[in-house]
Amino acid sequence: MTAPVYVALLHFPIRNRNGDVVTTAVTNMDIHDIGRSARTFGVRKVFLVTPIEMQHDLVGRILRHWSDDHAREYHPDRVEAVSLVRLEKTFDCVKAAIRAECGGEEPEVVLTDAKPLPNVVSCADYRRELMTPGRKRPTVIVFGTGWGVSDAFHPAVDRILAPVDGPEGAGGYNPLSVRAAVAIILDRLLGRRTGAAGAF
Ligand SMILES: C[S@@+](CC[C@H](N)C(=O)[O-])C[C@H]1O[C@@H](n2cnc3c(N)ncnc32)[C@H](O)[C@@H]1O
Repeated sequence: MTAPVYVALLHFPIRNRNGDVVTTAVTNMDIHDIGRSARTFGVRKVFLVTPIEMQHDLVGRILRHWSDDHAREYHPDRVEAVSLVRLEKTFDCVKAAIRAECGGEEPEVVLTDAKPLPNVVSCADYRRELMTPGRKRPTVIVFGTGWGVSDAFHPAVDRILAPVDGPEGAGGYNPLSVRAAVAIILDRLLGRRTGAAGAF
């Protein structure tokens, strides 16, 4: 058992290819694939964060589609995954929703990024923190879209996870799709380990 873990996928404030702060569009594939990873690894909820009203209308329709009786019968695994997904307009709303579910506890905000940032915590160390008996403080793991989460978000961040690197090591090629990054990071933090715990 771990402390409650949540995932937030930010669509604002996001960097574009020129480093400007932009709002990105929600991707259908992210909803399904991140929902499946969340359900597999015991994440409580996945928050899609976008301030754009039209995106709420569109994504709201998708979420409603995957909650009706036909979908339940036709594709129950997908319905179970998508049922964890929530839409919020701001990250403050995400924190408020988590506090409401966790007896008022303020969530620890943990950022992910492919690029090296200062003062990172490894997944192995953070996994140990999450598994500390008696830990009640919830955690929200934040993922980006576009070219990643803008520095403008950094004041809201408590911890930063070390990037996932391949055999080339730090500075080598590592920009994963957000779906792959979510699956790898959730496995490192929450996945069942048999035998010696991995060295991540
Ligand atoms: C920059 S977005 C890319 C969105 C892209 N359009 C896609 O196909 O998914 C990818 C997000 O996944 C996470 N991510 C990607 N590669 C990562 C890595 N090597 N280590 C840690 N997080 C990573 C970060 O949260 C990053 O903001």
